[in-house]
Formats: sequence, structure tokens, C-alpha cells
Amino acid sequence: MRLILLGPPGAGKGTLAARLTDRLSVPHLASGDILRAEIRQGSDLGTAVQKYMDSGQLVPDDVVIQVMIHSLTQPDCAAGFILDGFPRTLPQAQALNDKLTDSGLPIDSVIYLDADEEVIIARLAGRRVCPLCGANYHLQTMPPAKYGKCDRDDADLQTRPDDDPEVIRTRLQEYHRLTQPLLEYYAAAGRFARLDGNKNIDQVYRQAQQVLTKTFSSIDDL
Ligand code: AP5
Ligand code: MG
Repeated sequence: MRLILLGPPGAGKGTLAARLTDRLSVPHLASGDILRAEIRQGSDLGTAVQKYMDSGQLVPDDVVIQVMIHSLTQPDCAAGFILDGFPRTLPQAQALNDKLTDSGLPIDSVIYLDADEEVIIARLAGRRVCPLCGANYHLQTMPPAKYGKCDRDDADLQTRPDDDPEVIRTRLQEYHRLTQPLLEYYAAAGRFARLDGNKNIDQVYRQAQQVLTKTFSSIDDL
């Protein structure tokens, strides 16, 4: 099961991937989460990417390609993976395709989560994240049990630095300029499905379930 989730910032890629990873027993590889972990650790890579992420611009292709190809070739990805946030440009998609073609392991399904701009803005404005475990909440649609605290480890929830309104504008521009062309690339390659990401979390999950059970007839417990 090798799956790509595509979509604009705030469409719900991470939220859907977190549900699918539990059910499918394959790792959730979120490029943004991997890069944020490097920033938290203060690594050279983290220092190099922080200025791009804080301003809402994409990190250069060569850096992201190296990090993500490394991640998806680790032993825990032997049975597959869910890619969230990668690829995000045509050169990234081509590099991924080259790597997977060489390994004889093509992508099985590409799911595009589409969402309207006003929905995206409301979602990013209300998002809260746990700085310890990375769990994702929303003040209205996915609140924690205890206000401001992570359900898993009781840490104080935070807003993501790039969820600032001006940075969101830049992220959306970058999405339209560099990532949207991937929709045509993957639609032409087949095994591509568009989901209505404006729906609530359960409805989005059910749409994904329908696509995946059609693609993988062996999956009956999603
Ligand atoms: P990244 O972390 O990938 O951010 P993004 O793509 O902008 O997407 P988000 O994580 O903001 O949104 P999401 O779609 O995951 O939504 P979520 O599920 O959280 O990238 C950040 C930065 O890293 C980039 O700007 C760039 O600098 C760099 N980067 C990363 N990958 C790169 C690459 N490949 N190349 C170059 N640079 C790269 O949901 C949002 C909120 O809505 C949450 O609060 C959630 O609870 C709520 N919610 C989710 N779904 C629903 C629903 N259906 N109904 C109601 N509420 C919902
Ligand atoms: Mg995300």
C-alpha cells in the first residue's frame, strides 16, 4: 500500500493520514512533520529549512527529495507508506517516480483532498498542535478533552508558527504555483481520486475508505 495524499494547506491531509495509518499499519510520512522535528532538534538540516517554513515558502527540492527518499526506503516502509506533503512540485514527483520505478514498487493510489479557501482559513486559524507528540486538534471541530491540553500527554497545545494569516497567504500562493500542477500529472498517471475535503472528518474518511477498498480489494476492515 503506497499512497500519496495531495491537497492545499489545511485540507486535512494530516488528519486523514493519522486515521489511515492506524488502520492500514503502514507509516505516515509527513514531510512537514519530519522537517519540523529537525528544527526542534536544532540539526543543520533544521537550521537550513527553518527560514523557508516560517515564511511559508517551499523548502528547495534537492533537500526535501533527499530527506523523503531516505525516509521511505527505511525498513519500516517495506509494506508501504502514506505520503503527506510530498511530493509537492513536479521535480519532486519525478524523483519519487524514478526511485519507485527503479525499485519496482509503484504508487498504488493518489488521493487529492480538495477544500475551499474559506474552509482552509478557518481550519488553520483553529488548529492547535501538541509540541511533544505532534497530535493535531481544532478548537471547534476536533477539540481536546481538556481545554488547551493534549489528550495523550497533557502538554500545553500551541499554534503552528506558519498558521499566521500572512504566512497562510504565502503558503496558498506556493500551493497554487508549484503544487497544483501535480494534480494533472497524477490524474494522467491514473489511480487518482478527488475527495471533497470540505466535509467533516468522518465523511472525508468514508470517501477515502470507498476509494481504497475499490483499489485494494483485499482491504475489508478499513
Ligand atoms: P506541511 O506541514 O506539509 O503543511 P501544509 O501542506 O501546509 O498542510 P497542513 O499541515 O497545514 O494541513 P493539513 O492538510 O495536514 O491539515 P490538517 O490535517 O492539519 O508543510 C509545512 C511547510 O513545510 C511548508 O510550507 C514548506 O515550507 C515545508 N515543506 C513540507 N513539505 C515540503 C515539500 N514536499 N517541499 C517543499 N517544502 C515542504 O488539518 C488542519 C486543521 O483542520 C486541524 O486543526 C484539523 O483538526 C482540522 N481538520 C482536518 N480535517 C478536517 C475536517 N474534515 N473537518 C473539520 N476539521 C478538520
Ligand atoms: Mg499536515
